[in-house]
Amino acid sequence: MTSPNFYELVGGEPTFRKLVDEFYAGVAEDPILRPLYPEEDLGPANERFRLFLMQYWGGPTTYSDNRGHPRLRMRHAPFRIASAERDAWLRQMRRAVDAIALPPEQEATLWNYLEHAANFMVNAEDPN
Ligand code: HEM
Repeated sequence: MTSPNFYELVGGEPTFRKLVDEFYAGVAEDPILRPLYPEEDLGPANERFRLFLMQYWGGPTTYSDNRGHPRLRMRHAPFRIASAERDAWLRQMRRAVDAIALPPEQEATLWNYLEHAANFMVNAEDPN
């Protein structure tokens, strides 16, 4: 038997569903982030992000079956992401990670990844 991967360890799909639902509930109210999202309905964006995270951590590959290679930097190119946007994103994500209340070691693994990924997505300078 192989040991469980991170996706299984944290509780599989229900955990990622709760994480992403909490995150988008925050986005819906966030004055910096909400205007960036092109669609009025955040449901499809919620699903894409949840499927991406599930796949990344070893769950089903539905994300790439539907969307192909993630190419996340490229997919974020249409949105101006400077440090204010990154910080707002991480603020909403911090709330969402707190809400799923993982054991400390798993939480650190997840948070570390999200912080790095958010920095990687920055594609604009702050205004002077
Ligand atoms: C899509 C903003 C960071 C993963 C999007 C979209 C916006 C956005 C506006 C379009 C919504 C949609 O229609 O799907 C931001 C901002 C970030 C950020 C402001 C701040 C740093 C991240 C990070 C990840 C991520 C760190 C991964 C860990 C995704 C994914 C999609 C997406 C998977 C859907 C891609 C697709 O298949 O089209 N993001 N994002 N984003 N974002 Fe982000």
